[in-house]
Amino acid sequence: FGREIRYLVQTDSTQIVAHQWAREGAPEGAIVIAEEQHQGRGRMGRVWHSPPQTGIWMSVILRPPIPLSHAPHLTLLASVAVRRALAKLTELPVKIKWPNDLLINGKKVCGILTELRGEQDQIHYVIVGMGINVNAQVADWPDWLKEVGTSLRHELGRPIHRASLLAEILAELEQSYQGYLERGFAPIREEWQQMAGILGEQITARTSQGSYTGIAEQLNEHGALLLRTEQGVVPVYSAEIEWQGD
Ligand code: BTN
Repeated sequence: FGREIRYLVQTDSTQIVAHQWAREGAPEGAIVIAEEQHQGRGRMGRVWHSPPQTGIWMSVILRPPIPLSHAPHLTLLASVAVRRALAKLTELPVKIKWPNDLLINGKKVCGILTELRGEQDQIHYVIVGMGINVNAQVADWPDWLKEVGTSLRHELGRPIHRASLLAEILAELEQSYQGYLERGFAPIREEWQQMAGILGEQITARTSQGSYTGIAEQLNEHGALLLRTEQGVVPVYSAEIEWQGD
């Protein structure tokens, strides 16, 4: 991955550039990376604060030969890969929050946004967008962000070389992606479950169909989170999760 790169000093969102490039035939593993985004996109229509030179703001283009219904696997795979890269370079206690966030001491350090184009259970392409707060000075952040987010530099007390982290992430991502295509989702699911911060915890999942409160039990084979509620086990496919460790 990363053999074809579009490097931008600034852009609205690397996701937009990656969609365009994918439509024009970008090869698998191509990446778009920017120093700064003016309209970084988060999940659920939120903005992703992407000031210059402080983070890794990147979109990876994939063309997986899998059915559309398996696409959630890719988000989980990406969070496992970033978590592995961070474990190689730091000792930080990074936890995964379903489906896509990496947290340190309850605060978000990395978010992943997976977007795709396809039809009739056929994927044309997938864009895995990753935002990692690397060297941001948390003191400079707006208050709302300080409450929910952190940076690697803030947690470590020293800056990290962004290019080395990027290289590690791309290597891990490529390796877990190849492993996934060869061996399927089960090994990723195992690894994810070991690193998850929320299994066994009582959580509330806000979905478009309503809210569910229960104990987070495990992931099913589709990557949905199984929640044991008073009414029985509910699979959650897309939601905002709230829990005490949050
Ligand atoms: C989230 O809400 O947790 C997902 C955040 C994803 C942010 C990244 S930064 C690079 C890529 N380009 C974007 O506009 N968003 C993603």
